[in-house]
Amino acid sequence: MNKAVINGVELAWERRGNGPPLVLLHGFPLDHSIWNDALPMLENDFDLILPDLRGFGESSMLESPYSMKDLAGDIASLLDSFGVEKAHLAGHSMGGYVGLAFAKAFPQRVNGLALVASQAAGDSPERKEGRYKTAAEVADCGVRVVAEAMTDKFSADARVRDALRPLMERQSVAAVMSALHVMALREDLTDFIASFDRRLVLIHGDADALIPVDRAREIKSLQPSAHFFELPGIGHAPMMEAPGQTALGLKALK
Ligand code: MLT
Repeated sequence: MNKAVINGVELAWERRGNGPPLVLLHGFPLDHSIWNDALPMLENDFDLILPDLRGFGESSMLESPYSMKDLAGDIASLLDSFGVEKAHLAGHSMGGYVGLAFAKAFPQRVNGLALVASQAAGDSPERKEGRYKTAAEVADCGVRVVAEAMTDKFSADARVRDALRPLMERQSVAAVMSALHVMALREDLTDFIASFDRRLVLIHGDADALIPVDRAREIKSLQPSAHFFELPGIGHAPMMEAPGQTALGLKALK
């Protein structure tokens, strides 16, 4: 992968395709490769920019704590390094939280936003506590705690589970613990999404066991003009379970 030093972090990225820039942001605890199956169907439509978020994949991280806004800032600085002023953003799950934080911090730089198996709501107090508990377990027992808890919930498709589990297990303890804290502390952006005035695309499987499809339906009710692709029988990894339908949905950004 290519690397750039961004905000003191070595950020790994890939770029391919032609068209308006589209940043594809991966979810937790994964890396840019989750988008691979969808790329051939997107590269004639977009200049695809695929970073590994701070700490994940081949990107490094700092020891100091960071926030969702810092992750958004990494993406803004990466775009600066390419001379890209405005882009579409598509975020899977945690990547959607980063996309939302980017859209809030840099509204003038967003052409459109796609939330893929994601949500605008913040964590309930119970969910936050659960994340802190998981982070402590990861510190004691390693990343396999998260891989064991999440893999089966990700997808009913054994091929997808078999690809995701080793990918999760490859991530570092520090990155996984930090991301759990970052997600727990993220803002509730429901009001923000209700007033979002750029193109909005929602792609969500109705069999998602990690973020229920109701989260996307709620956003659609707040933003009736959103393009909503509700995918029957699809779980938490639409870009891997249904790459064609996911690519089609992402093309609605244009
Ligand atoms: C993800 O897939 O990125 C996570 O499930 C998101 C979350 O835990 O909120």
